[in-house]
Amino acid sequence: MGQHLSRTVAEGRAFMQVINGQPADAMSGGRIDVVSPSDGKVFASIPAAGAADVDRAVKSSKKAFEEGPWSRMPAFERGRLLTKLGQLIEKNGDELAALESRDTGKPIRQGKADVVATMRYYEFYGGAADKIHGDTIPFLDGYTALTLREPHGVVAGIIPWNYPMQILARVAGAALAMGNTLVVKPAEDASLTTIRIAELALEAGFPEGVFNVVTGYGRDAGAALSAHPEIDYVTFTGSTMTGTAIQQAAAINNRGVTMELGGKSPQIVFADADLEKALPVLVNAIIQNGGQTCSAGSRVLLEKPIYETVAKELAARFGALVAKPHDADGDLGPMVNKKQQGQVRNLVAAAEEAGVSVLARGSIDPTAPEAGFYVEPTLFGSVDPLANIAQQEVFGPVLTLFAFDGEAEAVRLANSTDYGLVAGIWTKDGALQHRMAKRVRAGQVFVNGYGAGGGIELPFGGFKKSGHGREKGFEALFDMSATKTIVFNHG
Ligand code: NAI
Ligand code: MG
Repeated sequence: MGQHLSRTVAEGRAFMQVINGQPADAMSGGRIDVVSPSDGKVFASIPAAGAADVDRAVKSSKKAFEEGPWSRMPAFERGRLLTKLGQLIEKNGDELAALESRDTGKPIRQGKADVVATMRYYEFYGGAADKIHGDTIPFLDGYTALTLREPHGVVAGIIPWNYPMQILARVAGAALAMGNTLVVKPAEDASLTTIRIAELALEAGFPEGVFNVVTGYGRDAGAALSAHPEIDYVTFTGSTMTGTAIQQAAAINNRGVTMELGGKSPQIVFADADLEKALPVLVNAIIQNGGQTCSAGSRVLLEKPIYETVAKELAARFGALVAKPHDADGDLGPMVNKKQQGQVRNLVAAAEEAGVSVLARGSIDPTAPEAGFYVEPTLFGSVDPLANIAQQEVFGPVLTLFAFDGEAEAVRLANSTDYGLVAGIWTKDGALQHRMAKRVRAGQVFVNGYGAGGGIELPFGGFKKSGHGREKGFEALFDMSATKTIVFNHG
């Protein structure tokens, strides 16, 4: 696929929601402009749904759960539908990659990588659907006790804009495999692939109402969805603040939630580490997707003897980074929107004003349109662990370096933020690898590596303010279901 498709895809298209198997405009008729982050220009539009649209979608999903063929479908047939959806995603991969890239500003190669991971989620959960089961439990004489894993009912998925297709896939894959029905609210800045994938789900043969999509602003459609009394479970990925609001809304109805709320993830490099292997990974973990990644490796902790050498190497690499339009496939693209561009610029400026030293700055392609939402990648050195830039999630291409002296300080520094999502540990010392992996508070720990290209099979989620509940892997199927215990007294 050439650059051409990612430049022209969806031009002028007025996208529709997918509710009860039909395309649906917002009841109010309101629309939201879809802007290309690469040039700031409007190229399409999506419906601006409100509470009435959400209510329609939830009622449709509830009906599909209670009355539709879905509720009686054998698990292997649900699995087949998911597998079929994965195949359709692969078949339409060029279009989906182009849509995701144009909508979010991410380089087209990242859009393509996202398609591959997305397809894998549907393949994985398609295969898993009929392989999860309950137990029989040794109990009293005269009794037989067993458990079933039952779906919650209607699951609400509130999706962010950074990896829309992948995050939708990990939610939809697990929720649908377990027999739930789904109402998805993608981010107002990145709804296009969600709409296309719901259309493909209909093509795959999912019954109407099983996979509904409402589009709109968080404060309207998102808030109405998380507070809706007929929603049985809410799963959310996004900011800590919005996560708190969604939990409060879901608490009104005492509903369960899964929260994936970002991080300030450390990569800890000991003096004996294989630096040749580590260096490109240290850079990529913060530059991939322009740093707009919940699991971005945004803090690099360097053991004192190697601090100067590694800082110099990283500075050289950071200085060479170039942000380009999504279709030019640079080291990174623009930020997703003006707000995110402003957030990154403000946090960088505030750190500089506070005296944090800038070791290197990448650049913005001089031919990139001025109205695009670009920022310069920035590397900060010798950062005070209590500084704001060391504590707050920037969600941009901004890396902070710290020096540590020995294992105990490495652990203390690694755990010194409110977050606990992912960590990387770099050392050849096997015993140290094990000790560090156990003492770092993070939902995923990588040793001599970082990130996993989607990590479809690997349970993922946070400690501390990074959230709770687990997605991905087989484990997500537990969050997306509830145990029912049945006891027979047969004498
Ligand atoms: P956000 O958390 O507000 O948006 C994520 C989703 O929540 C979107 O679909 C949005 O429409 C929806 N939403 C917003 N307010 C809502 C409400 N009151 N009720 C229900 N749904 C609501 O994130 P935003 O404002 O776009 O980005 C701000 C910051 O959030 C970023 O700078 C970044 O630090 C963090 N973030 C983290 C992500 C992650 O992967 N953990 C993803 C996106 C953002
Ligand atoms: Mg967009």
